[in-house]
Amino acid sequence: MAFSEKRENNGAAEDSNHSRLIKLREFDDTKLGVKGLVDAAVAKVPEIFRISNNNNKHQLPSDLDHSSSGSVLTIPVIDLKHPNTTEIVGGIRGSCEEWGFFQVVNHGIPEGILDEMIQGVRRFHELDPEIKKRYYTRDLISGFFLVSNFDLYRSAAASWRDTMGCVAAPDLPPPEQLPDATRDILIEYSKQVKQLSKTILELLSEALGLEPNRLNQLGCGAGQLLLGHYYPACPEPEVTIGVTDHTDASFITILLQDQIGGLQVLHRNKWVDVQPRKGALVVNLGDLLQVSPSFFLLVSNDKFISVSHRVVPKRIGPRISVACFLRPLIHKGDTDSPPVYGPIPELLSEENPPVYVEADVREFMRIHSSRGLDEPSPLQHFRV
Ligand code: OGA
Ligand code: NI
Repeated sequence: MAFSEKRENNGAAEDSNHSRLIKLREFDDTKLGVKGLVDAAVAKVPEIFRISNNNNKHQLPSDLDHSSSGSVLTIPVIDLKHPNTTEIVGGIRGSCEEWGFFQVVNHGIPEGILDEMIQGVRRFHELDPEIKKRYYTRDLISGFFLVSNFDLYRSAAASWRDTMGCVAAPDLPPPEQLPDATRDILIEYSKQVKQLSKTILELLSEALGLEPNRLNQLGCGAGQLLLGHYYPACPEPEVTIGVTDHTDASFITILLQDQIGGLQVLHRNKWVDVQPRKGALVVNLGDLLQVSPSFFLLVSNDKFISVSHRVVPKRIGPRISVACFLRPLIHKGDTDSPPVYGPIPELLSEENPPVYVEADVREFMRIHSSRGLDEPSPLQHFRV
């Protein structure tokens, strides 16, 4: 290609980046997210949300094919009221090896609270736009927030999703800072999830062959971020995505989803639907569990993994989900010493040398959140 021609092409690319940036800003400045577009009755998905072959950073050729593998595979279901604890622990260990995902039933959170939490998220997202706008911010630390696409300016294509939320542990924001539409249920749900997260961390400790309270002692669930996602009905679901494939920046994530469906898990290189199950909660392992307590060391390298997952959009909606990310205390003022995590000593031996170095979780989170969700996980940075 002649030099002048090349320069012209680069110029065209710059123009197109610039015009995309302007469109992203316009969208962001409405402070009304994707719900605002749907309220304005857009018939086509706007350009900034479109995944094309040019901006598709996903690894699988089937990524634009939103249908799942068509197989009848389902992620394991663990009954937490099973009379035999050894059976529960074994089930969790097996699920973590095979899937990095499982669902829990009989977990102790009443179904009425789960339903009301979904409704609370819906009420907030469906508030009068002028009230809702006041909460719109990209600051996810200082209080209750509404945002569309945390990685709006970094991802190749924006996602068909809005999110409300707040830090839920060690403490929720003061009640007067929470919107009326969701305050009471948010307080109640977060209390219940804290309780359940202790139980799940105990069972995971046992699945690792550790003392039951080990992961709780390490503060793996001391910090929690609660997100209420709203995926509006999409006029052209085949051209965009609800959440691009990613792994979570958490030890574990506890997810409540409504009955619409759309969540898919990468299993043996195929996308498998996580079928909604009334009353159940989905639990998945995040990157921090893989990097620090070295789950994989128990059996063999990379057997216990944080698994890629995504949400495909649908013509029907809204779909609502509530994700609670369990992680250590990472915010200024939470703790004096930097939270450094590395392989748990009792899991190490000559046959099982550490595969990851010790990591300052704040540094890990900083890298995690300074990239687009659609870029590779920073886990590789911390390999020995
Ligand atoms: C997430 C996530 C899935 C869902 O918030 O990290 O993967 O079903 N959510 O909303
Ligand atoms: Ni996730």
